[in-house]
Amino acid sequence: MNKIKKFLPSYVNRHGRLTESQKRHIALLEDFDFAKFKSLEVSLSKSNLVLDIGFGNGDYTINYALNYPEKTIIASEVYLSGIGSLIRKIKKESLQNIFIFDGDAREIFENLSDSSVDEINILFPDPWQKARHNKRRLFSEDFLDLIYKKLNKSGKLFVRTDWEDYAETIIESARARSKKYKFEKIKELNFEFKTKFHLKAINEKRKIFTFMLTKK
Ligand SMILES: C[S@@+](CC[C@H](N)C(=O)[O-])C[C@H]1O[C@@H](n2cnc3c(N)ncnc32)[C@H](O)[C@@H]1O
Repeated sequence: MNKIKKFLPSYVNRHGRLTESQKRHIALLEDFDFAKFKSLEVSLSKSNLVLDIGFGNGDYTINYALNYPEKTIIASEVYLSGIGSLIRKIKKESLQNIFIFDGDAREIFENLSDSSVDEINILFPDPWQKARHNKRRLFSEDFLDLIYKKLNKSGKLFVRTDWEDYAETIIESARARSKKYKFEKIKELNFEFKTKFHLKAINEKRKIFTFMLTKK
C-alpha cells in the first residue's frame, strides 16, 4: 500500500539498482532505525541531539559521528542506496551514535520532544531550479515553523547551498520569520567536512552560501 504523503516531495524519486552490499546493509536497518532511537531516548543524554537532513552518501554523518562521539545523530534520507552506504560505513567504524530515519525528514519532528534538538544540518538540499518546482524546496517558511518548537533555546539550524536562487529562498524565508529567528550568513558550519556535492560545486566553480538560524 502507498504511504500517504503529508508533504510535497522535496526529493527526486530514484529507482536506480542497488548493489549487493547496499542490499545486505539495508536489511540491517532495524538495528539503526529511528524506532530504536525512540526506545533508547530516555537513556540517551538530553542534550547533544543533531539532525543531518538529506545525508546522501552519509560521509558527513559518519565524520560528524566520529568527531563527536558524545553526540547522538539522527540522519534522514529517502534514497535507499544512500541508506545502504551509510549502514555499511557505520558498521565499518563500529559507531553507536547514529540513528537513521528512512523517509521524509519533515516527518521526524512530530516524533521528537519539544526543545530536544541542538543542531540541524541541511547540506546542499535538492535545488529544484525551475520556477514551477521552487515550491518543492525543503527550506521554506513552513519548514521553519515545523522545527521551531523542537530546537532548544540555543539550538542552531545550518543550511548550505550552491544555488544562488536557493540562497534567495533561504533569505526570504528567514526574513518572513524574523520575529522567531536570528539569521546570519556565515562561513563555517559547527562541523566542517566537504560532502560530495560540496566538492562538485568547487569543481564547477559555483559559489557556496552558508547560513545559520538561531531562535530569538
Ligand atoms: C543534493 S543531495 C545532498 C546530499 C548530501 N547532503 C551532500 O551534501 O552530499 C540532497 C539529498 O537530500 C535528500 N532529501 C531531499 N529531501 C529530503 C527530505 N524531505 N527528507 C530526507 N531527505 C531528503 C535527497 O534524497 C538527496 O539525497
